[in-house]
Parts: sequence; C-alpha cells; structure tokens
Amino acid sequence: MKKRWPIVAMIVCIVLIMSAVLFFFNNRKDNSTSPEYVFLYAENQTPGYPTTLGGERFADLVYEKTNGRIKIIVKCNAELGSEAEVINQMKYGGIAFARVSVSQLAEKIQLMNVLLLPYLYNDSDHMWRVLEGEIGDEFLLKTKDYDLVGLSWYDAGARNFYSTKPITCVEDCKGMKIRVQESTMMADMVSALGATPVEVVYSEVYSAFEQGIVDGAENNWPSYEAMRHYRVAGYYTIDEHVRVPEMQICSKVIWDKLSEEDQKIITECAKESSIYERQLWKQREASSRKIAVSYGTQVITLSPEEKKKFREAMSDVYERYSGSYMNIVRRIRDY
Ligand code: GCU
Repeated sequence: MKKRWPIVAMIVCIVLIMSAVLFFFNNRKDNSTSPEYVFLYAENQTPGYPTTLGGERFADLVYEKTNGRIKIIVKCNAELGSEAEVINQMKYGGIAFARVSVSQLAEKIQLMNVLLLPYLYNDSDHMWRVLEGEIGDEFLLKTKDYDLVGLSWYDAGARNFYSTKPITCVEDCKGMKIRVQESTMMADMVSALGATPVEVVYSEVYSAFEQGIVDGAENNWPSYEAMRHYRVAGYYTIDEHVRVPEMQICSKVIWDKLSEEDQKIITECAKESSIYERQLWKQREASSRKIAVSYGTQVITLSPEEKKKFREAMSDVYERYSGSYMNIVRRIRDY
C-alpha cells in the first residue's frame, strides 16, 4: 500500500505538467491570430527619421484599430527602391503604402508642381494652412490621376543649398554641378541660377559628392544631417527656395479591395500620424542643425537683398510652371 504513493504523485505531476503545456499552447495560438492583410510601406529615409517614425506610428495605429486584422510593415532606407520606383510599383499594387516627396508625385501629376514653386509660401504656417485646408484636400484627391490615394501630409521644412564651396550670392552658383531630385522643375530651377542640374537618387548623393559628380545639392537640415552630407559639403546657405511637403499615399488597386470601414480607419490613422511627424520634425530640424554645425558646417544666411536676387532668378520658372494653373497659384498665395 505504502509503495503506491510515489506512483500516484508522479501521475498527478505528469497530468499537471501536460495541462500547463496545453494551456500555454492554446493561449499562444489565440494571441497569434494571423492578420487578414499584410501590407508593405515604403520609406526612403533612415531609421529614427521623423517620417520613418511617423510611418511606424501609422502602422501601429492601424494594427491597433483593426484589432490586428491589418498589419503594415514599414521598410525604410529605400529598401523597396527609390521613390520613383516605388510610385511606379504602387500603380499596379506591388507596394501598398509609401511616404514620398511631393516632387516625385509631380513627375506623374503635373499640377503637383504648383506645390513646389520657388518662394510660393511666406513661411511654414502659410504652407500648413494651405495643406490642411480645402486646397490640401483637393491635392490629396488629385493623386487618383496616377491610381493613388493621398492620405495625409508630412512636414519636410524648407530646402536650402549646400556645397563644397560657399554660396553667398546667385553668381556663386554659376558653373556648379548641383544635385537635384528626379524632378524637371527642380532641374529648371537650378539651371535658372546658372548651375548645371544633376539628377541623383537620394541614397546616392553622398557618393556623388565623394566622386565629384556634384559639388552642391539642396535639402532640409534633417536630410543633410541624416545622410551625413555635412561630411562632404561643409557650407549650408539658408535661402529657403522651396518647401516641398511629403505625402503618405496608398495604391488605389489595394485601396479598392478594402472595406469602407477599413479605408476610414486608415485615413484617420494617417492623419493622426501626421500630427506626430510634425512635432518630431520641429525637434529634428533643431538637433540636425546642431549636429552639422558642431561637425564644422559653416552656415551662410543670405541678406534680404540677396534672397530677393535668388527669387528673381527663379521668377521665369515660377511663371512657366504656374502658367495654366494660375488660379490655384493665386488661391495658395492669398490663403
Ligand atoms: C527629402 C525627402 C526625401 C527625398 C529627398 C530628396 O529628404 O524627405 O523623400 O528623397 O528629399 O532630396 O531626394
């Protein structure tokens, strides 16, 4: 009789362990219900950059608000291709979501060029009034011309010139090779200053400087810092020639497959992530400038008279690109 106790205890132990194991596996199964949709989101900036963090916030919000039914995977560092390549793929639904510079959309939808006209806005507040108002909504809708759906706007501040030798006046640009985005309007703008525009994909700008393919470029402080261009181009001239906003977009092929309810959630999450990105942007503009300056960047601030000369030099480009869109340009200016 005495000898049976160890056997009973052993059986009880085995039953308890097996129940615990079953409980663990059942529970694990419940929590890992696979999503109904898994989408890719393209971003060409570095990890931790405001637009990347904005995209990640967007993905988290969508996951949360759809109870895990829609999972969006953010791929940064241009892992899915250059912005132009991504936009092409989105037309056919190869990539579902992206955050892109509006200058790249303008290559597909001419009217978008209006948003990048040189010296169009008085300041950042003016630009945001426009983007957040009915004009901004009209431009988001306009993306359907290239089978895209515009979701929200992200900040990218003002763009300035930077170079291997100081640019203190328009004449200094003469003969320089200045990198531009893959954008005809940006190329025309640089030509108007007497420089030669060289189209280079964002991820290749650093090596273009190293190899002497370019000796100047233009971008905002965070891009100049995040891509370490301050190491190869130590002069940064503040002329604020353009404010090129960014847009979060969805492929229309994918969009049309989603329920109205999911479309609504996605739009709301995109707008919420935009508020977050704009807060991050302000902080990053300041910290990026600090990093570059402490590395040795020389900041050149143009006098109002000199800035006026840059503006005048670009006035032909302004006229040419606003041409048939004069009504909308006037609305933006007066907004
Ligand atoms: C900005 C923008 C990028 C773009 C880049 C460029 O940094 O955020 O999306 O690619 O300008 O100059 O190409």
